[in-house]
Amino acid sequence: MQRTFVALLLLGTMQAAAAAEAVDKPPTWADINPIVTKHCVMCHSAQGAGRGLRLDSYALALAGSSRDGPVLLPGDPDGSELIRRLKGISTPRMPFLSYPLTDEEIALFVRWVEAGMPER
Ligand code: HEC
Repeated sequence: MQRTFVALLLLGTMQAAAAAEAVDKPPTWADINPIVTKHCVMCHSAQGAGRGLRLDSYALALAGSSRDGPVLLPGDPDGSELIRRLKGISTPRMPFLSYPLTDEEIALFVRWVEAGMPER
């Protein structure tokens, strides 16, 4: 009886630790890429990309725009032009001529930049 209780207690602790790890793990390009593909790439790829910013690969997203350079500053979401555009602090807000991303999606971008934009 008592042994079962101890075993259950241990199991609970392990599950809590696993859950904490899942929450702590920062988002990666694998999480960001589908959002960008759905909401941004139609305008930010190849020729005619808005301000020469391409978002159709990880390397291009980090390179930034041909006009202004990097739009993602590692550890600095407030200073990152891409985040400022998502929030509407810089205008025009992105995605251009469409509904803003959800708060959850924007928060995901912020956590990704805070973590230094890991690829994987
Ligand atoms: C309908 C087309 C369109 C869509 C969709 C779109 N953009 Fe843009 N984007 C533009 C245009 C046009 C500009 C240039 C506007 C300007 O002069 O600031 C721009 C500018 C930007 C800039 C500023 C680049 C710089 O050099 O300062 C960022 C960052 C950006 N977009 C990110 C995004 C992100 C992230 C998404 C998706 C969530 C997105 N855009 C969706 C058309 C679009």
